[in-house]
Amino acid sequence: MSRHEKLWDQVDAYLTETFVPRDTAFAAALAESEKAGLPAIQVSPPQGRLLELLARALNARRILEIGTLGGYSTLWLARGLAAGGRVLTLELDPKHAEVARRNFERAGHAGAIEIRIGPARETLAALVTERVEPFDLVFVDADKAGLPDYFSASLRLSRPGTMIVVDNVIREGDVVNAASADAATQGVRRMNERVAAEPRVTATTLQTVGGKGYDGLAFVLVDR
Ligand code: SAH
Ligand code: DHB
Ligand code: MG
Repeated sequence: MSRHEKLWDQVDAYLTETFVPRDTAFAAALAESEKAGLPAIQVSPPQGRLLELLARALNARRILEIGTLGGYSTLWLARGLAAGGRVLTLELDPKHAEVARRNFERAGHAGAIEIRIGPARETLAALVTERVEPFDLVFVDADKAGLPDYFSASLRLSRPGTMIVVDNVIREGDVVNAASADAATQGVRRMNERVAAEPRVTATTLQTVGGKGYDGLAFVLVDR
């Protein structure tokens, strides 16, 4: 725990007040998720805004999300969709998916979002087999032990120009600990090795502090 964490919270609150529009649908989604007992591990408001901006900058019409929870990040992605675009979001837990489905309906985004329930590994394999059209933007935010596989599957579901964003890749700095006993850290490290060895992508990672503590986001651009 850092002595700066209170300040990180204050700065996140300031950034949220300054840059993030107040939207009752987002507040309602968080309230309903909390009421349903879901863990409050969604992206922060400034991070959600970043997802919207990326979707808009990429003119994204097809977005894939791995890890829905109550659909807070999904709503941000949906906000950034190009006209007529769609988000496909993958969730293991049917209870989370049900909370998310109600949140999408309340927000008026249900028509643009599809949830597929099940282990993401299996759903991703099915999408590859179905030869679905490539996605423009992928947000990877499910179990971290699965990251190497989620990265590889995301790459198969991409085209040149697709951006793959991965959440929670710094883990309070544990990512530098090659001997870490944490399966999540090992998942990040194995994914990073794959990304670094992959000639078809250009990648970077940013460390982040804020309301969610010390963590980070990876950005992987598919070149070819
Ligand atoms: N993206 C959300 C937070 C996701 S939390 C947001 O920012 O608002 C991680 C989610 O991944 C949880 O809902 C969890 O149930 C789901 N998950 C965990 N393991 C999974 C798996 N193997 N396949 C699909 N989803 C999984
Ligand atoms: C956890 C998962 C997340 O996606 C996140 O942003 C924070 C925490 C978790 O599983 O603890
Ligand atoms: Mg996350």
